[in-house]
Amino acid sequence: MKQERNILICGGAGYIGSHMAQWLAEHGHEVTVLDNLSTGHREAVRWGDLIEADLLDPASLERAFGGRRFDAVMHFCARSLVGESVTQPYAYYANNVTGTLNLLEAMRRHDVGKLVFSSTAAVFGNPITDAIDEAHPKAPINPYGASKLMAERFLSDAAQAYGLRSVALRYFNAAGALPDHGIGEAHACETHLIPNVLRAALGQGPSLKIFGNDYDTADGTCVRDYVHVQDLAQAHALALNFMDKEEGAHTFNLGNGQGFSVHDVIATAANVTGLPIPYEVTARREGDPARLVAASDKAREQLGWAPQWTELAPIIDSAWRWHHDQPTWSPHHAHNDHPVQAA
Ligand code: UFG
Repeated sequence: MKQERNILICGGAGYIGSHMAQWLAEHGHEVTVLDNLSTGHREAVRWGDLIEADLLDPASLERAFGGRRFDAVMHFCARSLVGESVTQPYAYYANNVTGTLNLLEAMRRHDVGKLVFSSTAAVFGNPITDAIDEAHPKAPINPYGASKLMAERFLSDAAQAYGLRSVALRYFNAAGALPDHGIGEAHACETHLIPNVLRAALGQGPSLKIFGNDYDTADGTCVRDYVHVQDLAQAHALALNFMDKEEGAHTFNLGNGQGFSVHDVIATAANVTGLPIPYEVTARREGDPARLVAASDKAREQLGWAPQWTELAPIIDSAWRWHHDQPTWSPHHAHNDHPVQAA
């Protein structure tokens, strides 16, 4: 029998969080979004109420949880740029570590016992195997990965001490959009490859730079595992069912298990858009591993995860349709010195 739930989506005004809200609402669940709108967009909150609150302000969290009853929390709030984490480590530890701790404490005080947490491939550092499974050593090489790994540790400690049930989902490269639902990737300062490639196709923004073509890969550019945001949302929903049965803290890697180089992405995008994509090759970007490809057998077997977007072209096409007609969304505004951002 289908169970309807009341879910709090922290960071639900952001890229992945807004796709989560769409999925839950479409599947009959009650959604509430908590966001400080530091990088999220009010316009992306199309399902459920918005509570403006900040994970670094425990009083605002107390107000958010007071008088409401949530069956589970999904936690997408984070600063999530590898390069920026190297230059602003305190902001990353404040947001991703202290912010998560504050959220966990609010959940404990208000007796919410289930959490789905956004983690990342960056917890692994430089991979030592071709496909990365959950047992791969965790050796983050930047503060972003380190902050997420610390938060994962909180979850196992919280399981032990307070009986918190949790699932940490380690995304590889989130991509794509749901243009028919009016949501997609909209970062004020875009660093990700696919949006930058599409902007280059549209002649918007600075020309596309390939960060290094001297890696030890087939064509010399970095290889990544692109996974559609809707498939990520599916995995979160399955994690709720999983926690009904399973106690403790669990981790799953989420990717399609196929690696695409920067040149593969450019060639596929040129095909999808029918437009040339001018680029130049520049120096490597600090902190980029040559290859990151997931082994997601555990998620398929234990969660029943079955990604629907297994080809690169439709993933890029969905992002293209979104970028092409992207509405103008309100600019971000900083709330404080260390805003909690939505992944
Ligand atoms: N790249 C370019 N030009 C660009 C943007 C990216 O050549 O304009 C390259 C990058 O060097 C990298 C690849 O394209 O090789 C993908 O870069 P993205 O910025 O799109 O994504 P990342 O692989 O850096 O980031 C992802 C997740 C992070 C995670 C990280 C782990 O978004 O959350 O993998 O390294 F931490």
